Amino acid sequence: MTSTIAVAGASGLVGSNIVKEALERGYTVRGTLRDASDESKTKWLMALPGAADRLTLHSANADDGSGFDAALSGADAVFIACFPPIYKAEDGTPAKELDRVRGYAEIVAPVRNGCLNVLEAARRAGIAHVMLCSSTSSTNPPEGVAIKTETNAVSDAEFQMSEGKFTSAEKIVMETAARDFCVHHNMRLAIFLPTMMLGPVILPQHLEGDSAGFVTSAVRDGRTRHDKVPAGSMSVSHIGDVAKLFLAAYEQGARGRFFAVYDSVPWRDLYAELGKHVPASIMPAPLDGPPEEPTRFDFTRRDSLGVAMRDIPSVIAETCDWLKSRPFG
Ligand SMILES: NC(=O)c1ccc[n+]([C@@H]2O[C@H](COP(=O)([O-])OP(=O)(O)OC[C@H]3O[C@@H](n4cnc5c(N)ncnc54)[C@H](OP(=O)(O)O)[C@@H]3O)[C@@H](O)[C@H]2O)c1
Repeated sequence: MTSTIAVAGASGLVGSNIVKEALERGYTVRGTLRDASDESKTKWLMALPGAADRLTLHSANADDGSGFDAALSGADAVFIACFPPIYKAEDGTPAKELDRVRGYAEIVAPVRNGCLNVLEAARRAGIAHVMLCSSTSSTNPPEGVAIKTETNAVSDAEFQMSEGKFTSAEKIVMETAARDFCVHHNMRLAIFLPTMMLGPVILPQHLEGDSAGFVTSAVRDGRTRHDKVPAGSMSVSHIGDVAKLFLAAYEQGARGRFFAVYDSVPWRDLYAELGKHVPASIMPAPLDGPPEEPTRFDFTRRDSLGVAMRDIPSVIAETCDWLKSRPFG
């Protein structure tokens, strides 16, 4: 195994943490973002320990595949984390208001085709190992399952699209296309399924994202995401642990899907933890009655990778303490 890997989406929440973890493990890393001259992003990556000697950043765009040949050349593996969810069509129409034709063409197909563009560049570069970031939005079969495993929790793209859930469908369509491509070209594929990821971030821009927002809004802005505690649940993990799962799977020759969450807990319990670190006055109104049953997972495959996942109280405490330290000034 060579010591060079490529990370597509290196300036992203997930990608930047994979870069950090890979540098810490001694890898040489080729990272991509759409504009590698954008110093508001690159300076944070280039400040990571080891980056000056072993990180190069390259401009590449998955929409047409441009730039990936140069970025992937000489790498042993590609870690793909450059497909954040698309919530709106090109004209700004929310995805859930689109009909099937537009929803597929403007929300689902760009992700599928973009992923295939990156994979095609990987094939041309002779890369045989692909680590792909997807999402638990690809783990919701219409009939539901009592305990999710990576094999029984597979969304039905047509069903999701029939309900207007194009933003969710894009993930299972991407996974299916990637799996077919990698089988056809004899490339190893591992797929990771996170939901909300907390913990210190590398680029300040990521504080504004959906994941960090749960804590950022409370600690920094003095308000919570919800006015009232929702009855449902949320799956959570530490972003650093997610990156460790990617590297562990690569190093161990693993393939197939892996949950990348610590666990799912009721929002009520998440807010109870958050409330230990912020003023009670900003907490949302309590839930009336008991919460809904959280999603249940079988973590056998995740745990086979040997990554000690941090529990939710520890993750929330660490994230709050880190934010209070004003890490970006
Ligand atoms: N963040 C979450 O809360 C969350 C939760 C569950 C699952 N996930 C999954 O994690 C994966 C990565 O998401 P993320 O949150 O890390 O995304 P992110 O922070 O928005 O980063 C996306 C990365 O991809 C790059 N990128 C965006 N569009 C691109 C394109 N057309 N061509 C090439 N590069 C492009 C971005 O670079 P530039 O913009 O700098 O060019 C950036 O490096 C996705 O599959 C997402 O569904 C994320």
